[in-house]
Amino acid sequence: RTIDDLGKLQGKTVLLRSDLNVPLDDAGAITDDGRVRASVPTIQRLRDAGARVVVCAHLGRPKGVPEEKYSLRPVADRLAELLGTPVLFATDTVGESANETVDRLNDGDVAVLENLRFNPGETSKDDAERAAFADQLSHLADVYVSDGFGVVHRKQASVYDIAERLPQAAGGLVETEVGVLRQLTEKPQRPYAVVLGGAKVSDKLGVIEALLGKADLLLIGGGMVFTFLAAQGHEVGKSLLEEDQVARVRGYLADAENRGVQIVLPTDIVAATEFSADADHEVVAADAIPADRMGLDIGPESAAAFAQAIGTAKTVFWNGPMGAFEMQPYAAGTQAVAQALADVTAKGATTVVGGGDSAAAVRQLGFSDDAFSHISTGGGASLEFLEGKTLPGLEVLES
Ligand code: 3PG
Repeated sequence: RTIDDLGKLQGKTVLLRSDLNVPLDDAGAITDDGRVRASVPTIQRLRDAGARVVVCAHLGRPKGVPEEKYSLRPVADRLAELLGTPVLFATDTVGESANETVDRLNDGDVAVLENLRFNPGETSKDDAERAAFADQLSHLADVYVSDGFGVVHRKQASVYDIAERLPQAAGGLVETEVGVLRQLTEKPQRPYAVVLGGAKVSDKLGVIEALLGKADLLLIGGGMVFTFLAAQGHEVGKSLLEEDQVARVRGYLADAENRGVQIVLPTDIVAATEFSADADHEVVAADAIPADRMGLDIGPESAAAFAQAIGTAKTVFWNGPMGAFEMQPYAAGTQAVAQALADVTAKGATTVVGGGDSAAAVRQLGFSDDAFSHISTGGGASLEFLEGKTLPGLEVLES
């Protein structure tokens, strides 16, 4: 069901679940507002239909109690700027402030509720506790629209239980994200290349397993690559290493070979004496990382090889930076991969950047969103989708 299936929305109160979980700096300023911007079209569409829009969302991982640093107020302010209209803010989620705020809404108005995760019921593993919170939420509105693609892999009150309590539909962002990712899982144009990075291989095991049966080419960088290099028998010095995953990764390398999937690993590495922008660093061979150094980026030879491989693809999915890109000396690998994706997009390939971190990385490196076919707002959600897992927040919309 989409918003069009909900019938007339004029005068109706819509509870809209968005993913407004944006990165903040130490001073509490938003460093990447991509998710807020991505939530705007659905909000605007509901306003245009005459609905009273009550946005609910989470920020960070507070433990079921209010914490000032996780307040959604700055995010609500940013939303107001982007919408070009005032946005009311409720200082709680289902209490007095929420009720009063919703009562004050006129048709076409927008309110944001305080962080859902200030309430233990939102993320509770206890079905009854979640249900009780979802009941309270449901009393605020007439219908529910699920547009927080980044949270559809979470079985949480505002994502899952609520959809059983109100007439519901998927919002435009969820529709778009599912459409794009379904294309990758069902009929990717080949060659299909997947670039994976990020710190931990243990976060990516499921998706690697699933992709070994789908992708033609798997390019690996980021902190997780050192577990691959170790699996090939190389010393990785002080680099990140998940020793307990080495045997498993060795199995993937063998499996890939049997299936004819090409796994491309870096041949050179930028190795530093410590995790710092000022540390002494040099380019070393990937199979000869000195014992007193840690790899913090793929090297120039690898960046060129990755770019060349990406250039041959018709479909590319990318999740996870190639190095510690937030420090300038270790940004070149991520920059090269982003550029290669942008170039191949211009040549007509379908490119999808998945994940909050990767999305923030490409923007921080100066790429505009339309340099790629699609920048997903989902990190874990997009990976679990590609993995073929059942996502509770999507499943419940189909029931
Ligand atoms: C994300 O950042 O991936 C989503 O907002 C989900 O957040 P969570 O991992 O804290 O559930």
